[in-house]
Amino acid sequence: MEVFRIKGGTPLRGSVKVSGSKNAALPLFAAALLSSEESVLENVPNLSDIRFMAEILTELGASVERLDQTTWKINPRSIVHYAPYELVRKMRASVCLLGPLTARLRRAEIPMPGGCVIGNRPIDLHLRAMERLGATVELKAGVIQVEANSLKGNSIFMGGRHGSTVTGTANAIMAATLAPGRTTIDSAACEPEITDLCRMLTSMGAKIGGIGSHMIEIEGVESLGGCRHRVIPDRIEAATYVLAAAITNGKILVEQAKTDHLGAFLNVMSDAGINVENSGKNDISVDLRNGSLNSFEAITLPYPGFPTDLQAQTCALACKANGLSILTERVYPSRFMHVPELLRMGAEISLEGTSAIVRGGKPLTGAPVMASDLRASAALILAGLAAEGETWVQRIYHLDRGYDSFEKKLQALGAEVERLPESEMPKAFDTSSA
Ligand code: EPZ
Repeated sequence: MEVFRIKGGTPLRGSVKVSGSKNAALPLFAAALLSSEESVLENVPNLSDIRFMAEILTELGASVERLDQTTWKINPRSIVHYAPYELVRKMRASVCLLGPLTARLRRAEIPMPGGCVIGNRPIDLHLRAMERLGATVELKAGVIQVEANSLKGNSIFMGGRHGSTVTGTANAIMAATLAPGRTTIDSAACEPEITDLCRMLTSMGAKIGGIGSHMIEIEGVESLGGCRHRVIPDRIEAATYVLAAAITNGKILVEQAKTDHLGAFLNVMSDAGINVENSGKNDISVDLRNGSLNSFEAITLPYPGFPTDLQAQTCALACKANGLSILTERVYPSRFMHVPELLRMGAEISLEGTSAIVRGGKPLTGAPVMASDLRASAALILAGLAAEGETWVQRIYHLDRGYDSFEKKLQALGAEVERLPESEMPKAFDTSSA
């Protein structure tokens, strides 16, 4: 396994280019299966989750070829309806195969997704959407079996206990594109990643209205063709660099990023005293308004609310903001695995229900810390960039799932960070057996 060694204290300077969106690209790979023709995806990020999804599509019988660092060609001419348990259980996003397989083959067998450290991740809304379109759904030996002799358009309500579901909405839309008749999807997720999916499906011949809204309307078609589609930039990666600049009191330009994808995050940054401005066509400039950070409140909600995928990283920022900040999780109430590790760095955080209350302003001190999931690993790296001394972040395979070349991009901004084999960790720190 590998670790990051970070020497904190350097304000970030310069510009960084954002890669394509992981959470857009994964459903787009699944959407390619809706056609028997070849599709090409451009601006795909170089991530382990992407390579993993490519492996799953190959197991399904598609031919998947990487044309260059960010371009993939998918030929789904002959595919089977069952996804391999060993692969699917490791990545929740593979649940996005449910819609395309049901629509294209009228049957699908997908292992129930496994547990996830960020919290409970049910798929009841996904399955209900398939049933509303005429499929029968059964759970046998941990495998979801969907049969649909004939699909038929219908009204679907996608609202759940915590609002909408992104991958659930993706599945419902993908299945409805080939369901004869009209489908309405009420309380649909309207994240930019869903809009990107609808754009790709439209270019394949799908008939979709209400794109970008909470009410999607779809007229089913006989079949869909292949396409060439460019993945949107990753708004979570972009915002992570905004936070990296802010936590180090730096000044950077984030290229290939759009403030209109950042929703409520911009308001929280403004409250914290951070200037986030559009600069040029597709870039964002970031710096502190007056050299210090103010305390703030953030509550995570479905888009355009504050993204849950930025909560951990923003919690790290709060450690540097003078006063009491409060971060409340309304999507994944227990998504606070980063907190115990931040406490090891001298943070003062108390967890009250589904909120983290952060008393910020005291300097953080470097320490060996353990990443638990994708966004927590980014949070610990941000904290290390701001801490006095040296921070060692272990289990950074979590990071590689969702951030393309993170240490290289940070190095280009002047950060003292390097990727090392775990054996390089000072023995005093070696907690790998923990
Ligand atoms: C997407 O997951 C993202 N992943 C997640 O990003 C992100 O955190 C999440 O949306 C919320 O924004 C991808 O797009 C690949 P959910 P998704 O499990 O759609 C409830 C990252 O770090 N729910 O649907 O799978 C659920 O309990 C990852 O990049 C139901 O109740 O999110 C949760 O509270 C982590 N029933 C909420 O909806 C269902 O059938 C959304 O969770 C489905 C979900």
